[in-house]
Order: sequence, then C-alpha cells, then structure tokens
Amino acid sequence: MIDIHTHILPKVDDGPRSWEESLHMLRLAEEAGTRTLVATSHQPGGWRGPRPPLPAVYALVEELNARARSAGIGVQVVPGAEIYLTARAAELIMAGELPTLNGTHYVLVEFGFDSWPDDVERSARRLVEAGYRPVIAHPERYRLLQHAPDRVHVFLEMGCLLQINAGSLTGRFGREALRLADWLFTRGLVHCVASDAHNASSRPPALTLARQVVASRYGQAVADQVTCSVPAAIVDGRDVAQAVRRSA
Ligand SMILES: [Fe+2]
Repeated sequence: MIDIHTHILPKVDDGPRSWEESLHMLRLAEEAGTRTLVATSHQPGGWRGPRPPLPAVYALVEELNARARSAGIGVQVVPGAEIYLTARAAELIMAGELPTLNGTHYVLVEFGFDSWPDDVERSARRLVEAGYRPVIAHPERYRLLQHAPDRVHVFLEMGCLLQINAGSLTGRFGREALRLADWLFTRGLVHCVASDAHNASSRPPALTLARQVVASRYGQAVADQVTCSVPAAIVDGRDVAQAVRRSA
C-alpha cells in the first residue's frame, strides 16, 4: 500500500516529536503493509511556525530514509506537503516554493474544518488551470460538506481528487465524517484513502483496518484502488483517470 498523507517528519508540525518516534511510525507502517509514505507536513507555516523551505523538507526526508535504512526498516519516504489552500498558497505552489506530492503535479490541499476562505474554489481552479491536480485532504471531515455534500461536485468537476482518512472509516472522526465517507464511496467519488498519521499511538500510519472496511462495504477492487493503484499513480505522476472510472 501507498500512504499519500502522513505527518512523519520530526519536529516540523504537530506530527512526531523525535526521530525515534518517526522511526517507530515507519516500523508500524511497514508491519501494516505500507511500502511508500509521502511526508506531508503542514504548509505553509508548518504548525504555528515558520515555513520550512523546500530544501529543508527534502533534507529531512533524505535523513529519515537514511535512518530507516540503518534501522533495517524497508519502507520509502518521499517528499510532499499538506497545504492549507488560500490564494497565497496557490501562488507559492505555482512558484515552485511548496512541495507537491513526490514532485509531481499532484498537490495535497486542505480546507478549514468549519469554514473555508472565500476564494478556495478559485484557488483550486487556478491550480488546475496551471496544470496541477489538487488532492483534497479528508473532505469527509469538513463541516461545510457534511451539511451540503453536493458541494463536492464543484471540485470534482474541475478535476480535483478526494482523499479520505482511514480513521473516518473506522469511526475515529465521528458519525458525520463516517456518513459523508460512505456517501462519497457509494457514489464512486473517492480516489484514495490515507492515514493522515500524526504519531505512533492515537493516530498511527495504518491503513489495514480501513482497507478491510472498504473491501467489505464497497468491494475488494475498490479497496485495492484506493490504497494501492491510485496512490501509486499519484506518487508516480501518472494519470488516475482509468482507476477512477473503474471505481465509479
Ligand atoms: Fe494531515
């Protein structure tokens, strides 16, 4: 499996607090059957801190991979970011100053949980028009969409992808998130599932249980697509259209 949304780099956001915890998380991911993780620290601004410049993010990913190899952990970490989408953030993405998912045209974006900036749709559209493919992080957790799920079509029609959190499928983020995740899955609108891992305990990098839930409710083929083939296409920068059509 490939996990495109993890807070795995130490001490840059609200993810792990040490290299040891990062390595512990990687061990858990390996045991759970994940082979590649995208390090998607919060950007811009880290977590209430200054924005780590691109070379710093790449250096941390390289160091984490080196430490994992020395520790005998057989997973690969690639660079990325979870970008809070604003007009300014879209500018920074287009200027090449914020990490995309493994350097591809796919870019993981998040919105506010309770409300969005007025220009969020326009910013997403600008990215699409500039050749990027925004992947919307955990849409099922946004209250605005929980109350008006049809609003998601604006983003889908412009070419955005949807990433559901594993924890939403297991009830960790409440009944409303579970209900919206189901609404999206039953309509074939989900592109991938990721852990959004933050630590080794309460929010670990595990996709296994969510994958089982998807397989039992929506079929094994869909489970494979959302945890394997579509995330693989994303980190390779390939088109996901075929996989999306099959899951519809
Ligand atoms: Fe996240």
